[in-house]
Amino acid sequence: NNPPWPAFRGYHTYSFANATMGHRLPTILGKAIEDVIETLNGLSDEEEIHDLVSCIQRMDTLKNELHQHAKLRPIIDDGEADVALWNKEITKYFADKDFMNAPWLFAEAYKYRRLRECFTVSKFWGDYDVFFRQKCDTFSRSSDAVFELSTRFAEPFQHKKHLSDNEKLDAERLMFMELTQVCLWGNSTDLSLLINMTEEQIKALQSTGGEALAETEKNILANHIPKLWEVVRDLKGKPSARIDFILDNAGFELYCDCVYADFLMQNGYAEQVRFHGKRYPWFVSDVTKKDWSWLLNSMVYGHLFPMATDQEKETLKRLGLRWKQYENEGKWVYEQHPFWCTGYTFWDLHKEAPDLFLHLSKSDLVVFKGDLNHRKLTYDCAAPYATPFDVAIGPMASASGAPKVCSLRTIKSDVVIGLGKDGDTLGEKLDKEEDGWKISGKYAIVLLSEGRPG
Ligand code: F6P
Ligand code: MG
Repeated sequence: NNPPWPAFRGYHTYSFANATMGHRLPTILGKAIEDVIETLNGLSDEEEIHDLVSCIQRMDTLKNELHQHAKLRPIIDDGEADVALWNKEITKYFADKDFMNAPWLFAEAYKYRRLRECFTVSKFWGDYDVFFRQKCDTFSRSSDAVFELSTRFAEPFQHKKHLSDNEKLDAERLMFMELTQVCLWGNSTDLSLLINMTEEQIKALQSTGGEALAETEKNILANHIPKLWEVVRDLKGKPSARIDFILDNAGFELYCDCVYADFLMQNGYAEQVRFHGKRYPWFVSDVTKKDWSWLLNSMVYGHLFPMATDQEKETLKRLGLRWKQYENEGKWVYEQHPFWCTGYTFWDLHKEAPDLFLHLSKSDLVVFKGDLNHRKLTYDCAAPYATPFDVAIGPMASASGAPKVCSLRTIKSDVVIGLGKDGDTLGEKLDKEEDGWKISGKYAIVLLSEGRPG
């Protein structure tokens, strides 16, 4: 059972699919090749050099295939846990399809899987991450926002003296409202769109102060944050309350996710948080296990911010130590199910990854971060703006056992739903008045589905 609306495809010139498949992906691949060349130039061992040159040749081939709109071929069996899932989907649905006429979501994901394959079939470079340098670099250029948050949150959140229980709850509600927005707008720093960002651009995207947030709240076109608060509020003190984050980007966004999760833990809204990342480099900036460890360890041991004061560095270290402790105590768990790196939408999650669906169904709240996760939740199709969220996400809302699902996403691609009963008018108005409103990341949505207990 699929939604009744057509999925976006690369040849749809009215869609961001066209620019992505035609220009953005070849550019991203070109930059990835440059990164490997930089590594190559620092090598001395002949066997390793030889092996890496072959990786570059495979990347060149992939780039040509993209340019020539080649047919999608099966993935080579490189021992990865997802080969069967990929090839099942390719042979069943997309055997004759090419990069431009396959659904955009699938073709784009396929490109990242093929990029992975360029390395997994090598002898020495199976774990190479062509985006790692970019991911680290952007975080290290985010100092203003990083320290703004660390100086505020290194000390656990404390109430003013003599507050009644109701007043305390209200203070926590306000903090929740603010941090939900911090977590939401953390998603603007996405490297696949913002290649070569300047310091100023990064700062503008990451301003986290109260005034900035009041301003940006106007740009949340569908805002279920109050409803989300009710869900979270009811978890307070619940034994083994569990919240899951389906992560999006590494670096600053992940840092914001952790600040948010930390607040939820400290105030008794969650006893466990499970973070779901990717098994390998994905859509440029998505979190891998290496990015996760890199962030926590750089916060504690790193020297990323030479200009920061000792006090600022100390706050970052304290946060990092606390988060590592959560991890050591099993309160924070990092997971990486193979399904997250496939071309399936989440309409198929319960069928293609029933173990994962069952696992998520035990969570009290599953927060999906970012644009790609939103595209996957909604089948990346041309649904009307007014489509209610739980209709747009199909089985993730209606299948027996569907957990409560929240999507926190800055809008960076075509699919926009959940805008309410006047949503079609609002969307059409923006279409007329604001060129590129769906790809700028200026607007956002926070949508919630109540799920269906099994
Ligand atoms: O290439 C397009 C895209 O898949 C869009 O979904 C978005 O522009 C970007 O890549 C990824 O954004 P995010 O990191 O928020 O999922
Ligand atoms: Mg991403």
